[in-house]
Amino acid sequence: MPLNRPHKPEELYAQVLENISDGVIALDMEGRISLINPAAQTMTGISERQGLGRFFAHLFQGQKALTQLVERCLRQGRTLSDHDDIVLTPASSPALPISATVSPNYSDSGELQGGILILRDQSKSRELEEAMRQADRLSMMSTLAAGLAHEIKNPLGGIKGAAQLLGRELPTDSHLAEYIEVMIKEVERVNGIIEELMDLSRPRCARMGEVHLAEILQEIVLFQRESAPPKQIDFHMLLDPSIPPIRGDQSLITRLLLNLIKNGIEAIEDRGELTISTKVDSELHLNRPGQRPVPFIQISIRDSGRGISRETLTNIFTPFYTTKIRGTGLGLALCQKIVGEHQGFIKVESTPGEGTCFTISLPFIRTEQGHQPHCSEPA
Ligand SMILES: Nc1ncnc2c1ncn2[C@@H]1O[C@H](COP(=O)(O)OP(=O)(O)OP(=O)(O)O)[C@@H](O)[C@H]1O
Ligand SMILES: [Mg+2]
Repeated sequence: MPLNRPHKPEELYAQVLENISDGVIALDMEGRISLINPAAQTMTGISERQGLGRFFAHLFQGQKALTQLVERCLRQGRTLSDHDDIVLTPASSPALPISATVSPNYSDSGELQGGILILRDQSKSRELEEAMRQADRLSMMSTLAAGLAHEIKNPLGGIKGAAQLLGRELPTDSHLAEYIEVMIKEVERVNGIIEELMDLSRPRCARMGEVHLAEILQEIVLFQRESAPPKQIDFHMLLDPSIPPIRGDQSLITRLLLNLIKNGIEAIEDRGELTISTKVDSELHLNRPGQRPVPFIQISIRDSGRGISRETLTNIFTPFYTTKIRGTGLGLALCQKIVGEHQGFIKVESTPGEGTCFTISLPFIRTEQGHQPHCSEPA
């Protein structure tokens, strides 16, 4: 079978530049663009036609850190990088954090001829960093909450016992019996919250087994469809049928998905849409010592509800943070803990007034692949 290989080195170089996922922009000594590969065009939103022959500093006027980096490289003839401060804002696409490296381009005779700028998409690693930060915050809160819950539970038991004793002492027709009932009910309610909080902070060994994501999602939606009225919610299921069962704790994963779906439903006023989708995300891999890297399964739960403001977004995973009259604010904190116990991560995107999308990524560990149960550290 004839192989369709490029024959000349130039053809190979051109093909590499066409296909590489990093953006490459070549510049002459005046700072004019002499090459912009397809990845750089996508990242910057500048086409080859718009870019070739134009001054880099003009095209990227709003990007001071980037233009100064390029300018310094051309002036000093040395490689310079910026991995933190550059966020590209191409028209009609979301902002893109990138790392940039500019290297001098020397001719064979050693003459400086311009620079080569390499742009690398950092959005995935920024998301991972944010997920780690959230997990750290949660672990600190959990330690605090565990201590507090413990301290509250005992006196609460005492109050309930005393109220019951008091109730027994009252004459049967006493109107005060009603107050005793309220006391006991309220104590039980607080106790329920404490139990949930302890769930969040208790060291626990996840019971790993076979988890059928599609089945769990379908069951939850079936049940929520029944209980959602009087709201009118269109549920859309876009589940990848090729995803086999994965390794996980069935009851924890069910709680995780149920919490997110309930939040989505609660965010919808009277009518709206809830779309649940699953797919394999091969861009990210979980590396485990001595084993093959595994990709992630991505589960997205998108609602067309009220959305979350930027300020609220930074708080939603904090235990007890709630904007609902009857919420405990523990739902998402628990979701984050469950995702962490499965070596996955959770992220959220939201536009106020338009809706919210929670995306969970869980490692695609098949049930036959050996994997030790994961226990959280004692809090
Ligand atoms: N899909 C969503 N749309 C809009 N806001 C949301 C969504 N999911 C969560 N939130 C916001 O995040 C807050 C925290 O959510 P979380 O699930 O932790 O607690 P809750 O839903 O308020 O209470 P509980 O889960 O105990 O019923 C919510 O009060 C709400 O303000
Ligand atoms: Mg909730």
